[in-house]
Amino acid sequence: MAKNKTVFFCQNCGYESAKWMGQCPACRQWNTFVEEPVVKISSGKPAGSVSSRQPSRLSGIRTEKEIRIRTGIDELDRVLGGGIVPGSMILVGGDPGIGKSTLLLQVCQKLSAQRRKLLYISGEESPGQIKIRADRIGPFSDDLLLLCETDLEAIEGVILKERPEMVVIDSIQTMYKSDISSAPGSVSQVRESTNVLMNLAKTNGITIFIVGHVTKEGVVAGPRVLEHMVDTVLYFEGERHAAYRLLRSVKNRFGSTNEIGVFEMAGEGLKEVKDPSRYMLSGRPENASGSVVTCVVEGTRPMMVEVQALVCRTNFNMPRRTATGMDYNRVNLLMAVLEKRLGLALSSCDAYVNIAGGVRINEPSVDLAVVCAILSSYKNIPLNDRLMVFGEVGLVGEIRAVRQAQQCIREGEKLGFDRCVLPKASMDAQIVPGKMKLYGAGNIQEIYKILTEM
Ligand code: TYD
Ligand code: MG
Repeated sequence: MAKNKTVFFCQNCGYESAKWMGQCPACRQWNTFVEEPVVKISSGKPAGSVSSRQPSRLSGIRTEKEIRIRTGIDELDRVLGGGIVPGSMILVGGDPGIGKSTLLLQVCQKLSAQRRKLLYISGEESPGQIKIRADRIGPFSDDLLLLCETDLEAIEGVILKERPEMVVIDSIQTMYKSDISSAPGSVSQVRESTNVLMNLAKTNGITIFIVGHVTKEGVVAGPRVLEHMVDTVLYFEGERHAAYRLLRSVKNRFGSTNEIGVFEMAGEGLKEVKDPSRYMLSGRPENASGSVVTCVVEGTRPMMVEVQALVCRTNFNMPRRTATGMDYNRVNLLMAVLEKRLGLALSSCDAYVNIAGGVRINEPSVDLAVVCAILSSYKNIPLNDRLMVFGEVGLVGEIRAVRQAQQCIREGEKLGFDRCVLPKASMDAQIVPGKMKLYGAGNIQEIYKILTEM
């Protein structure tokens, strides 16, 4: 008797299992398994057939000069590694309402103004709704094509008929293939839909942008598999209530992955922020304890950010600690280092650490700023307004060198900072201090002296 075969997928990470489980062994989420029918994909080849292809020498492969399509939105082009590679597949992930549709519509606006043929496919909005958004963004060329459709076979037909240069799929979670019985947005649907689109992209040289919603855990909803299939994964992030947005690439087959693009959501769509440092530091308090400015290098671009700390006596047995914009455990570690090496009584203090402006920073070079902010708040001494600090702090309290120190110094100088505390090890002969007065520190005991004597 033929049995209807089904498997269970974790809807959070795409983990596959033959039986239902309460907790996913891969991503540890509870109650995420959903039964889906097995999808048979025939490879078109009889089993056991051997391909007659021959390997070729790497040195013998000729390539044309790499072509990149520049969108004209510099912040995006840089994150993509210099522009769009024709025929690539780009996933744009982000929370609902963060501005993914707006960004891609603006890309369409720029590219269709270059007389390129584009197709914007939405499964979420009606043509009227898209038009309203387009009117806010500004004038569009007449050639941009819109399609409101969720059936992938129909979409495939339209793409093959119109042969656009670029297609936007807004969003992959609304698309479905009718021969798969599970619901749109489920793991099998998302995976098969992406497969169809990938074939379209690779065989016809069409660039495809895919919008993917993100779950509250911060991964593209449905499966991780989506991230493996596409060429480039961009995340659009930012606080919902703040105006700026960061575009970060987490995977890029054609460029580096540590570039970020900064945008601001305005009344007429997204605007590029060319000088993020100035933007991040706007509204900085003057003469306040617990506020320190540091510089982090994201990709090739230095960015100044303000680190704030509030340390006060706790009323509980367990002190409260929070970290916004950086790793919580890192903050705890730095506080333990301060307690041990400088003898501060931090275990009886609540501490709140915040990277102002809502960016998230994973660079270790922010450590020293956190240490200085905690020190300043604990002792209630405001630090100099024109002081910047950067450096990594180790467990012994040593201050370790960071990369691109020169770039950070130059960026600080540009914004009017005139003194800088940095790791002694970064102060080599090549460093040009310019107008900046440099204070090299080897460990946090020295930091304390420098800050109090400054
Ligand atoms: P949207 O692009 O629809 O988000 P997503 O596709 O990621 O879900 O952006 C929605 C938000 O952006 C919405 O809250 C309104 C705001 N917005 C502006 O502030 N200005 C604008 O010009 C546009 C088009 C949107
Ligand atoms: Mg949208």
